[in-house]
Amino acid sequence: MQLQLRALLWLCLALGASASRILFMGVFPCPSHWLWLEHFQRDLLRRGHEVTSVTNVPTKTPHANLTEIILNPAFDIPKHFPKNIIFDMHYSSDFQNLHLFWNIGLMTTEHALQDVQLRQLINSQNEHFDLVIIEQFFHEALLMFGHKFNCPIVTIGTLGYADNMDHAMGIVTPWSVIPHLVLPHTDQMSFAQRAYNSYLSLYDAIMRRWYYLPKMQALAVKYFGESIKVHSVEYKINLCISYL
Ligand SMILES: *[C@@H]1O[C@H](CO)[C@@H](O)[C@H](O)[C@H]1NC(C)=O
Repeated sequence: MQLQLRALLWLCLALGASASRILFMGVFPCPSHWLWLEHFQRDLLRRGHEVTSVTNVPTKTPHANLTEIILNPAFDIPKHFPKNIIFDMHYSSDFQNLHLFWNIGLMTTEHALQDVQLRQLINSQNEHFDLVIIEQFFHEALLMFGHKFNCPIVTIGTLGYADNMDHAMGIVTPWSVIPHLVLPHTDQMSFAQRAYNSYLSLYDAIMRRWYYLPKMQALAVKYFGESIKVHSVEYKINLCISYL
């Protein structure tokens, strides 16, 4: 919620000002994510902004101010993650579902960063953007584009609630009443459900900090290291990560 408010605030600022150059990134290869994100793209164009979109889905309504970077080759989701697993969360435990998220995030982030056009953007010397908009999913290495172009970043959350997003925004959402995103509970949990929720959420927080984010950092250093001085990459990405 707070994230969305923040996004909204930046969008208002961006939209209120004169036309901006915006890098809009929806790299996750699942069409349902883009179905939602493309409304933001459409409205930004309507308001006269120049948008460069990084996506898997070519637009059906070309626009003079829309430049598309279509990730090529497309990430083959069914090959790596059969559809029934993704949609039904058929992994045998909540913990495995968490690892599914992290693995998909790491794989699709690296896949995007290997795209030839995206690499050209990373290595570009004369490109300029006023704002970077990124899907807040499992793609933290892409936050480096804000550093690369030295401009603000807006993230748009497609998950709804996630514990780490709330904590990043300084919101207190206690595990006693707020169930983890992979759990079906409401705020009316039994004692056993609360205990399990706390255990799962703690596992998530610890693994995110010491397993998942270090891997994201490694991706950021690997793919941005050559175009940005490494010591400053590490400094910035650490900032990003501690902020997350
Ligand atoms: C394209 O962007 C420019 C600003 O760079 C703006 O003046 C123009 O109105 C936009 N064109 C369309 C069709 O929205």
